[in-house]
Amino acid sequence: MVFKMSEKERAYLIKEIDSLRKEIEGRLVPLERISPGIPATFISVGGGELGDLATTAAGRRFGGARGGIVSVAFDKYHGFPAQDAADYSEVFDMMDGDQLEGKIKKYVPDPRAPHAIYLEVERIDTKRAYKLGMEEGYRVMSTPYGPLVCMDRHATKLMFDKLGLNMAPWAYADSEVGVQEAAEKFGLPVIVKPVMTSSGHGTSIVRTAKELKESYRHSVEHARGVGDEVIVEKYLPELKEGGTEITQIVVRHFNTEGKIVSTCLPPIEHRRPGATYHESWLPSTISEAAASKCRDGAMKIADFMGGIGIYAVEQFVIGDKVYNNEVANRPHDTGLVTRWMLNMDEGALQLVSTLGMPVDQSMVELSRHGVFGVAHVVLAPEGVKEGATVQEFNLKGLHTGLGEDLKGDLWIFGKPTAYPGRRMGLAFVYAIELDRARADAERMAHLAEAQFAYKE
Ligand SMILES: Nc1ncnc2c1ncn2[C@@H]1O[C@H](COP(=O)(O)OP(=O)(O)O)[C@@H](O)[C@H]1O
Ligand SMILES: [Mg+2]
Repeated sequence: MVFKMSEKERAYLIKEIDSLRKEIEGRLVPLERISPGIPATFISVGGGELGDLATTAAGRRFGGARGGIVSVAFDKYHGFPAQDAADYSEVFDMMDGDQLEGKIKKYVPDPRAPHAIYLEVERIDTKRAYKLGMEEGYRVMSTPYGPLVCMDRHATKLMFDKLGLNMAPWAYADSEVGVQEAAEKFGLPVIVKPVMTSSGHGTSIVRTAKELKESYRHSVEHARGVGDEVIVEKYLPELKEGGTEITQIVVRHFNTEGKIVSTCLPPIEHRRPGATYHESWLPSTISEAAASKCRDGAMKIADFMGGIGIYAVEQFVIGDKVYNNEVANRPHDTGLVTRWMLNMDEGALQLVSTLGMPVDQSMVELSRHGVFGVAHVVLAPEGVKEGATVQEFNLKGLHTGLGEDLKGDLWIFGKPTAYPGRRMGLAFVYAIELDRARADAERMAHLAEAQFAYKE
């Protein structure tokens, strides 16, 4: 089950983080050697494309189990992307705490052995993960309490408040009246978001007084029993009009002296016409003044939360102004573009940092210079039947359609079945001009979408 905190528990958790951080960091040790005889175990709890990126890095960079790193991936369906890349895999419902604990202990019976547990997805028993991390000494990364804060918009806002970070004006509400009061305080438009959702579920932008009532009901319906609490934010129309969105990724890791430090990746810019990830690119076009504020905010968050591994902070940038929005205590889908644009992608960085190996600045630098590299999602069509199986992908059709002058790459995730809008792959294109790279990445993505044949 998803663990939901009360208002009191949230405030208490944020107050306690300082001591929780000290406790877990005190137990962390750097990984100084890898050995096939006593291998380190990396468990990806969730094995989608983000898990795949980390799991394949174990093989690519270290030779996998034979090199001294055993990779294990969990997910809830057969044929998940990281399944064939990992040395071992398990298919089960990760919301079931007993199973989650049992499977983790199957591969890491003794928490003192070198290992890392990467929570790749949100739909897991977060309370059990917390218990394993805090009470039993398992290395749940980036921290055992990370999901509790990051999946809960209210806890996230309380943390931002505590750190003095800039964000859109917000209020907590658990009733229609509360939503109304917040709207009066900020003035319309506002955006109403359930405390615990992602991908836009239950969120609505409210422009008229009449829509206000509806927004609260909509939110509660989509909370799927996880509650009737919402966050009301002042809607920033300038964001869509002249602003942009970035993800500032920070990796916390051991340095060569055995100290835990934080290193920022370059900001990743992205657009999302709908509710989910659509396209992202590197380098970003934001000003240095804004970039510096982005780094500053993200570093404060990562250093406050602590642990080791990746934090991804979503930020709105309007001119030189930065609004902190959300945090993921894990790699982020907008960061998939790092596969082609950084010396080390976010999956490899997650693997290396969480196992306790050092990261240095050169690893997080751009690998392609003088160009923009754009990743664009390849989706299953809206008309596809839920559960339709992938029959084939027409490579010739793709190559013929693309022409010669396009520089890029296509990543097919290998998901066995589809549903409308499911992410099946990623198109990547680089070009000197950003507009050109974005247009071509979109063209490649749409062409790739047309090359999948599905069977109902
Ligand atoms: N206060 C706001 N003003 C303007 N746009 C917003 C605001 N909050 C969210 N958005 C837009 O909605 C998107 C999704 O909101 P977000 O809080 O990130 O929820 P989700 O969990 O669905 O990603 C953002 O990426 C941004 O484009
Ligand atoms: Mg978001």
